[in-house]
Amino acid sequence: MGIGIIGIGKHVPEKVLTNLDLEKIMDTSDEWIRTRTGIEERRIAADDVDTSDMAFIAAQNAIADAGLTSEDIDLILVATVTPDQPFPTVSCMLQEKLGCSNAAAMDLSAACAGFMYGIITAKQFIETGAYRNILVVGAEKLSKITDWNDRNTAVLFGDGAGAVVIGSVSEGRGILSFELGADGTGGKFLYQDEYIMMNGREVFKFAVRKMGDSSVNVIEKAGLTKEDVDFLIPHQANIRIMESSRQRLELPEEKMSKTIQKYGNTSSASIPLSLFDELEARKIKDDDIIVMVGFGGGLTWGAIAIKWGK
Ligand code: UT7
Repeated sequence: MGIGIIGIGKHVPEKVLTNLDLEKIMDTSDEWIRTRTGIEERRIAADDVDTSDMAFIAAQNAIADAGLTSEDIDLILVATVTPDQPFPTVSCMLQEKLGCSNAAAMDLSAACAGFMYGIITAKQFIETGAYRNILVVGAEKLSKITDWNDRNTAVLFGDGAGAVVIGSVSEGRGILSFELGADGTGGKFLYQDEYIMMNGREVFKFAVRKMGDSSVNVIEKAGLTKEDVDFLIPHQANIRIMESSRQRLELPEEKMSKTIQKYGNTSSASIPLSLFDELEARKIKDDDIIVMVGFGGGLTWGAIAIKWGK
């Protein structure tokens, strides 16, 4: 049997904040944001909605999509840098809200690469036979740690949640290879003080290098070549970084997921949100080879090659 994604769900807040809205509150322009980042609008959660609320809806949908019930979930992993509070964790809050009475629960912190770390952690537990079905959620309310007086960061981020269930799939399908990595020496380039602090240029250079390298590495580890890749789902941080990964894999434009224009950078939620939307748009079909790749604060990175289908 393979180990893969057997269900998916998402949730984004209703409130849309456009570049034009931002023009009114800070010294920026729609033109600058579009051309430098690819972002047109982002979703912002209401004051009384926190990360766990968005995670809950996404998770509920993922469990239903997998054809499972809450009791079938053995472990809940929530990747987030914006938990409701340090503890109890978002995963424990979900365990209660979802009624996953048989599940262990923990949060996992690897910033924007968190979803990749979550998927790969889940894979290990299933591979050893310890667990069968694992809920992996990427959920962020970044608006609560955004400095709305800092145009360098405020235009980039958005709120949202994506969730998948990892379980058994047919032989030959599922996760084929992975790479995870970290470089703590770059921690100073992207961190949270009270708000998100970032050296954009340094993070940009790191991202271009690591997104490209780790995408190529997972393809090679899976015994495949660039020509075998059907679709790329990169972390949605900046269209120029995403484009460089696409070019590294020599893929045409239509074979890369692009949701940054509508959600901005949602950190750990960006890859599952993109996956959800591409499945809905029927751009991914069974047996497609997909590369998912992310990077983030830490600095961290992670990638997988996966053969789609149950
Ligand atoms: O998930 C990981 C999260 N982080 C990232 O992925 C960030 C990676 N880095 C980036 O995406 C880019 O570096 C940014 C989008 C953050 C910035 O783009 P850039 O092309 O590297 O611009 P820059 O920082 O070199 O700034 C160019 C100019 C500066 O003005 P001067 O010094 O040339 O006069 C900035 O002050 O653009 C100015 N600027 C802005 N102008 C209008 C910076 N932010 C804005 C803004 N609106 N929002």
